[in-house]
Amino acid sequence: MRIVLVGPPGAGKGTQATRLAETLHIPHISTGDLFRANISRQTELGKLAKSYMDAGNLVPDEVTIAMAKDRMEQPDAEGGFLLDGFPRNVSQAEALDELLETEDMKLDAVLDLEAPEDEVVKRIAGRRVCRNDSAHVFHVAYTPPKKEGVCDVCGGELYQRDDDSEETVRRRLEVYHTQTEPIIDYYKAQGLVVTIAATGPVAEVTRRALEALKRDQ
Ligand code: AP5
Repeated sequence: MRIVLVGPPGAGKGTQATRLAETLHIPHISTGDLFRANISRQTELGKLAKSYMDAGNLVPDEVTIAMAKDRMEQPDAEGGFLLDGFPRNVSQAEALDELLETEDMKLDAVLDLEAPEDEVVKRIAGRRVCRNDSAHVFHVAYTPPKKEGVCDVCGGELYQRDDDSEETVRRRLEVYHTQTEPIIDYYKAQGLVVTIAATGPVAEVTRRALEALKRDQ
């Protein structure tokens, strides 16, 4: 399957993507995680991306599309993938369509995670991420690690992302409404969008997502 996950910051895209990718046996491709890996390796791309991410703005399309394309062309993505955080505006969606068309491939679904703004702000304020692997995500109140500050999965140190400050989160939400939400209409026109409520327990949201994807087949 080829799936795009869309939703505001803090909707639970990363949390759900990890679980869905495991169940569906497809790789989870997160452009945010790819940028953060570049930042921790201090690459040129990482240095460029950090300045945009810390301000809550989108990293320029040219570098983002090239990075996503490169990842989607890896052998493990041949049979399908779950995209998290890409595309994030209409020109990225058009670039993805072009890329898929060249490979004679199609998207199967765009899973839209809906969550109220006050909830996503609370989720982001309490989020803690593992330094070893940003797919290991916790929340101080909702999904706390067994030992404070320590990742349950690998024992790595948990930290708060630089772009999770209140001011940056407000900006990220604004960018989501103005630049990312229009891709929902773009994909609705292709009949690809399935919308689910991303509230309630994590496992319940996963169940809803799998059911919606099955119904869509
Ligand atoms: P990215 O890393 O993609 O961030 P985002 O889209 O803002 O989304 P988040 O990671 O904040 O939230 P999420 O929906 O994954 O929620 P999570 O599962 O962690 O992008 C960061 C930046 O990179 C962008 O601002 C931009 O600068 C740049 N970038 C990335 N892609 C780009 C692109 N394509 N083009 C240009 N720039 C790009 O959950 C949040 C918290 O809630 C966690 O603590 C979790 O434990 C908790 N939680 C999750 N589900 C539940 C639940 N059901 N109940 C209670 N708590 C829950």
